[in-house]
Amino acid sequence: METITLSSEVTVSRIIQGFWRLHSWNWTPQELHDFMVQAIELGVTTFDTAEIYGNYTAETQLGEVLKLDPSLRSKIQIITKTGINKLHPDRPYTFKHYETSYDKIIFSCNESLKKLNTSHIDVYLIHREDPFFDHHEADRAFKQLKAEGKIKTYGVCNYDPVKFSAFHKVSNQALVTNQIEVSPLEFEHFNSGMMDLLQAEKVHPMFWSPLAGGSIFTSEEPSIVALRTVLTRIASTHHVDLDTIVYAWLLMHPVKGLVISGSQKISRLKNAIAGLSIKLSLEEWYEIYLASGQQVLR
Ligand SMILES: NC(=O)c1ccc[n+]([C@@H]2O[C@H](COP(=O)([O-])OP(=O)(O)OC[C@H]3O[C@@H](n4cnc5c(N)ncnc54)[C@H](OP(=O)(O)O)[C@@H]3O)[C@@H](O)[C@H]2O)c1
Repeated sequence: METITLSSEVTVSRIIQGFWRLHSWNWTPQELHDFMVQAIELGVTTFDTAEIYGNYTAETQLGEVLKLDPSLRSKIQIITKTGINKLHPDRPYTFKHYETSYDKIIFSCNESLKKLNTSHIDVYLIHREDPFFDHHEADRAFKQLKAEGKIKTYGVCNYDPVKFSAFHKVSNQALVTNQIEVSPLEFEHFNSGMMDLLQAEKVHPMFWSPLAGGSIFTSEEPSIVALRTVLTRIASTHHVDLDTIVYAWLLMHPVKGLVISGSQKISRLKNAIAGLSIKLSLEEWYEIYLASGQQVLR
């Protein structure tokens, strides 16, 4: 498995397993453990979660696995996120909102460490752009957590270029990633210049919903059917499954991004890994880029 060194402190697998949907899989700790062991055997050692996933339960599920098998901790890297206050009977909020204050980041991190049953988080991220963001206070919290050994690195998700640049500057270039939605159906970050800024800053993005949450396979929307037709033809040329072509398309971009697979099936994780070995032609890359009709060449 190819790895990406995000900083001197953290190296992650280029294919990451995501746990946004974990709660709906209804797995026992043993079943989740077995899934993670299979992923690790395939070289997928990095796992993505968040404070709010599964309505605040996903981190606990991961923590139960680490309690069951503490030897796993040294073999994996954990990404988790803070910054969203969702309504929940055990939380004091009356209205869903974002919070990225110093106190919130410190509180969330300590709570996540407890739930995850670990002494440190490898990559700690702000989950969403916060319009009420105090860069200096957030950076103070992250730097303190780093100094205490509670997090190894930090970064953001879903930031636009201006917001990324502002926080990257305040943090003295400490941000190790921007986790963003990119797929052959989602082009915001191509159009905003984010992909270009990240290359200039030598920061590797992590692409979430690489398969557009599965809609690439299931939707009958005409633009998605058009994309599926192109992907199916290219997949048959390369003798692989359609999703492998999507992963190859994402992975070959010069920004050198990582992909977060959200499937509960090891066979589909293997298809993601297979994307590392497929080399698309530039013409194929552009065919996929243009297939849904959202993008035009100027
Ligand atoms: N930072 C953020 O703001 C943010 C936001 C969203 C997500 N994320 C992260 O990114 C990860 C990946 O996102 P995602 O789950 O949306 O990724 P995804 O890989 O685009 O979608 C996964 C979904 O697609 C389905 N799927 C895969 N192959 C399929 C096929 N051949 N036919 C039909 N359905 C298929 C999967 O079902 P099966 O399970 O049945 O295979 C699963 O429900 C998340 O788990 C999370 O860790 C981050």
